[in-house]
Amino acid sequence: MRIRAAVLEEFGTPLQVQEIDLAEPEAGEVLVRLAACGVCHTDLFTASGADPSGYTPTVLGHEGAGVVERVGEGVSSVVPGDHVVTLFSPQCRECAHCLDERTNLCLAIREQQNMGFLPDGTTRLSRDGEPIRHFMGTSTFAEYAILPEIALAKIAPEAPLAEACVFACGLSTGLGAALNTAKVQPGATCVVFGAGLVGLGAVAGCRLAGAERIVAVDLSAERLELARGQGATEVLTAGPDTVEEIVESTGGFGADYTFEATGRVDVMRQAVEAARMGWGLATVCGVAGKGETLDVVPRYLITGRRVAGSSFGGVKGRDQVPELVDRWLAGEIDVAPLISHRLTLEQVNHAFELMEAQNGIRSVIEFQ
Ligand SMILES: NC(=O)c1ccc[n+]([C@@H]2O[C@H](COP(=O)([O-])OP(=O)(O)OC[C@H]3O[C@@H](n4cnc5c(N)ncnc54)[C@H](O)[C@@H]3O)[C@@H](O)[C@H]2O)c1
Ligand SMILES: [Zn+2]
Ligand SMILES: [Zn+2]
Repeated sequence: MRIRAAVLEEFGTPLQVQEIDLAEPEAGEVLVRLAACGVCHTDLFTASGADPSGYTPTVLGHEGAGVVERVGEGVSSVVPGDHVVTLFSPQCRECAHCLDERTNLCLAIREQQNMGFLPDGTTRLSRDGEPIRHFMGTSTFAEYAILPEIALAKIAPEAPLAEACVFACGLSTGLGAALNTAKVQPGATCVVFGAGLVGLGAVAGCRLAGAERIVAVDLSAERLELARGQGATEVLTAGPDTVEEIVESTGGFGADYTFEATGRVDVMRQAVEAARMGWGLATVCGVAGKGETLDVVPRYLITGRRVAGSSFGGVKGRDQVPELVDRWLAGEIDVAPLISHRLTLEQVNHAFELMEAQNGIRSVIEFQ
């Protein structure tokens, strides 16, 4: 079939919205009609050429929500008409990692996915016979996408898809960092560095876990206000003295749980230093630039602080994304304030400009 899609032709150039070909789903694959797709930093990171593992041509996009149109042979967990959220972090339910509670890093299709191929090593996207790769196994800046069955979370049909798409990446990452990775305990003191979609999700996750104090730290007053809306009990404007301020306000000890959601290694370090002596846990969500390293004085660790990394919030996507969506529908998570702009596919480059200007938390592309 012919579809409209935003293609990255060459790094550092604007995406080109055009008609390309999409083949039928093969065994284990699903054709999804996209309703909406969030625009995330990772899309821009790849488009800019900064990601050393990037490839072209490819259709970007990985925060999709839509409706199952057709399924390939052997697909049993979704049927046409099901509402789904796309998963760049799949869940096969069979590999060593899927069977282990401690991680969500499914091993089933990693290698091919990292190269932009579907699990059988080929693509369904093409143009004049030339293959176009599937970015993050999702390629959701398009009217339709083909995904492996294991990369789809089936969600409640009453969930509005234009909002549900933020559960495909940033929001679930933040929520899961608090609920899965850190496993925040009731009554805890938490500090969240960065109040973008990931940090705001972490604030909401700390609230859902029953934290008593949730301190949001950011440079932007507007974002700190949004953090209050997600459950922050205190806000702090980021600066060189942030760690001292946190230590001081916690009786000289630091916070039980800290979260880094900025992508800056200096802030990751602050998150470690602001964690409590004895048991404080710093959870790192941000993706740092190529070659950057996290600098920690070992004394912070010997005295009981711990550091954890969190990919997609430790969320096992097919099991837990539907649960998070249900909590949203039950009124426990407030998604609407996180969506700042609703755009068309033709405006995808404008979404990148908005992101670079830090204008709004998430731009969402809606498909007619
Ligand atoms: N681990 C994962 O699976 C995963 C998933 C999605 C995104 N990410 C990463 O998480 C990070 C956050 O993503 P986002 O979409 O929320 O980004 P964002 O840019 O919207 O938010 C980052 C926030 O950090 C704030 N900030 C900048 N410097 C700061 C400082 N010194 N102290 C405190 N706050 C500061 C900014 O003002 C901004 O509000 C990025 O690095 C992104 O690549 C990781
Ligand atoms: Zn993302
Ligand atoms: Zn697996």
